[in-house]
Amino acid sequence: MTMSSNDAIRWDEKYQDERYHTYSEPRQFLIDHTHYLPPCGMALDVAMGLGGNARYLCERGLSVLGVDISGVAVQRAKCNFPAIMAVQADLNHFYLPPARFDVIINFFYLQRNLIPELIRALRPGGLFLIETMTKQMLEIKPDISPDVLLATYELREMFSNLEIITYFEGWTNSRENHPRAVASLAARLPMEKCKGER
Ligand SMILES: C[S@@+](CC[C@H](N)C(=O)[O-])C[C@H]1O[C@@H](n2cnc3c(N)ncnc32)[C@H](O)[C@@H]1O
Repeated sequence: MTMSSNDAIRWDEKYQDERYHTYSEPRQFLIDHTHYLPPCGMALDVAMGLGGNARYLCERGLSVLGVDISGVAVQRAKCNFPAIMAVQADLNHFYLPPARFDVIINFFYLQRNLIPELIRALRPGGLFLIETMTKQMLEIKPDISPDVLLATYELREMFSNLEIITYFEGWTNSRENHPRAVASLAARLPMEKCKGER
């Protein structure tokens, strides 16, 4: 069994568990950046989960493609929020068309080799919102694999070719009110950047 099929099974099991129902709420970082969203256009929700963030974007006029490896999550998102174009796929093997999306959101899923592809998939002027956990998290949860945690300033470095609107590293509270060490970034692809420069 591959790593990705293990992930699909693990996440399917989580999403069948009632305790994960809060995953259908939009993330606070997305809500805080509502005023940066365009009134229409195409958005991509990377590792969408139950669709709370995708729904939030749909309700603000965007057409949203949500991708997740969990069939349970995709099925629930489709059922609860039919406006989302929800696709079950492994992001390790997913073709992203260049310069297609006006907004890309990526919450609590870290696939480092995907970030340059995602940046290429942004339209000039497009908005990128990303938030995920940092290695500081090991102070309270030493069992998390360090591979899925960001190093200090790593996120800012990954997006150094974009115009950074917001950057934060530190402790916040999760939706379940647990302390969580995160890095959050909102950035825009400059209008004048052409594909070759990205
Ligand atoms: C912590 S959840 C975050 C969900 C959502 N972005 C949110 O903000 O609530 C991580 C998500 O990544 C998805 N995932 C894990 N590995 C994946 C892969 N290889 N391809 C696509 N999705 C994946 C899981 O199914 C899960 O929904």
